[in-house]
Amino acid sequence: MFTVPVALAGRSYDVRVGSGLLGDLAAECGPLLRKAAVPVVTDEQVAPLYRDAIEASLAASAKEARWMILPAGEATKNWASLEAVCDFLLAEGVDRGDHILALGGGVIGDLTGFAASVLKRGCGFIQLPTTLLAQVDSSVGGKTAINTRAGKNLIGAFHQPALVLADTGALATLPPRELRAGYAEVVKYGLIDDPEFFAWCEAHGAALLAGDEALRGEAVRRSVAAKARVVAADERETTGTRALLNLGHTFGHALEAECGYSGRLLHGEAVAMGMVLAARYSVRRGEMHGQDAERIAAHFRAMEMRADLTELGLDCDGRQLADHMLHDKKMDAGTLPFLLMRGIGQAYLAKDVALDDVAAFLNDELARQAA
Ligand code: NAD
Ligand code: GLY
Repeated sequence: MFTVPVALAGRSYDVRVGSGLLGDLAAECGPLLRKAAVPVVTDEQVAPLYRDAIEASLAASAKEARWMILPAGEATKNWASLEAVCDFLLAEGVDRGDHILALGGGVIGDLTGFAASVLKRGCGFIQLPTTLLAQVDSSVGGKTAINTRAGKNLIGAFHQPALVLADTGALATLPPRELRAGYAEVVKYGLIDDPEFFAWCEAHGAALLAGDEALRGEAVRRSVAAKARVVAADERETTGTRALLNLGHTFGHALEAECGYSGRLLHGEAVAMGMVLAARYSVRRGEMHGQDAERIAAHFRAMEMRADLTELGLDCDGRQLADHMLHDKKMDAGTLPFLLMRGIGQAYLAKDVALDDVAAFLNDELARQAA
C-alpha cells in the first residue's frame, strides 16, 4: 500500500493506493466515520460488486451502510440525481461533520462530491474510486460537478475529499474498454511533464492493461503523485499550472459533444484522441517534431485504442467541431486557452490559438488517410 499526500493548507488529505483496501473500509476510514449509519452513494453496476464486503467491514465496527444506488452512466450526473442524493442525505440526518462515501467511477465521485459541497453548506466525503479513470484523476483534486443541457461539468464546485482509497483490486472487474479509457489519463501525466513516465507506459502499458496488478498499482501511484503535485501548486486552476491537466481535453470535449456524450466515445477515449490532435496541431505550428506526435498515436494504437479522427466516422466538418469549443468552460473573454506540446513531456498553455486555424486543421485531420 502506498500513501500519497495531497498538501493543501487546512484541507490536506491522503490518497491510499493498494489492492484490497475496500475490504478494510471501516479501519481505513477510522474516526472519519463517526456515526453508526454510513451513507454510501454508488451505482447499480458497482453496488453488487462491493455491497457484501463493505457491509461486512462496517458491521465489524458496529456500523451499518445506508445505500443510495443510482443508474450507471454519464446521464446520472444531472440535476435530478443531485436532488435525489441531497434528499437521501437529509433523510439520513447527515451533518456537516459527517462523511459520505462515494463508491464508483468519476460519475459517482463528481456527483457525490458536489452534493457534499452544498449539503448544509458543505459536509465531508470520502472517494472510493473503482475505475482507473477515477483512481488516477477524478477522485483527486476536489473538482466536483454535474452536467446540464448546456454542457458537461458546467455546474460544480471545488470541494476536496477527506480521504481517497484507491483499491487497485477493483480494476479486475472493469470492462476492458473502460480500463483503456482510464489509461489515457495515465499517459496524460507522461505527456504533460514526465517523458520517462511516457516511456514507462510504452514499455508496460500492454501488461498493465492485460491485468498485471503491480503495474496497475505503480501507474495509479505515479499518476496520483503527479496530480497531487499539480493540485497542491494550483488548487483552483488560477495560475495555469492545473490547466495542464486539461491536455487533450479541448479537442476531446469537442469530439464528445459531436458524439452526443454517448457510449460512442468515452471521455478517456476522447482525451486520448484529443492528445494526438493537440500533438499534431503543435506540429502544424512548428512547435513539435512530427515523429513525437506519431509516437503518441502509435502508442494508443498499440494499446488497441483509436488515435485518428477518421476512425470515429463523424458526419461533420472541422468548423462544426471547432464550434463546440465555443462552449468550453475554459473560454475566457472570447479566447480559448489551448494545451499544446513542444515535445513529449513538454505541455504548455497557448493563448494565441485562432479557432479558424483549428477548424482548418481539423478538416485536414478528417481527410487524413488512415495510418
Ligand atoms: P463512470 O463513473 O461512468 O464508470 C464507468 C462504468 O464503469 C460505469 O458503468 C460504472 O458502473 C462501471 N464501473 C465502475 N467501477 C467498476 C468496477 N470496478 N467494475 C466494473 N464496472 C465498474 O465513468 P468514469 O470513466 O469513471 O468517469 C467519467 C466521469 O468522470 C465523467 O463524468 C468525467 O466528466 C468525470 N471526470 C472528472 C474529473 C474530475 O477532476 N473531477 C476528471 C476526469 C473525469
Ligand atoms: N481533471 C482535471 C483536473 O482535475 O484539473
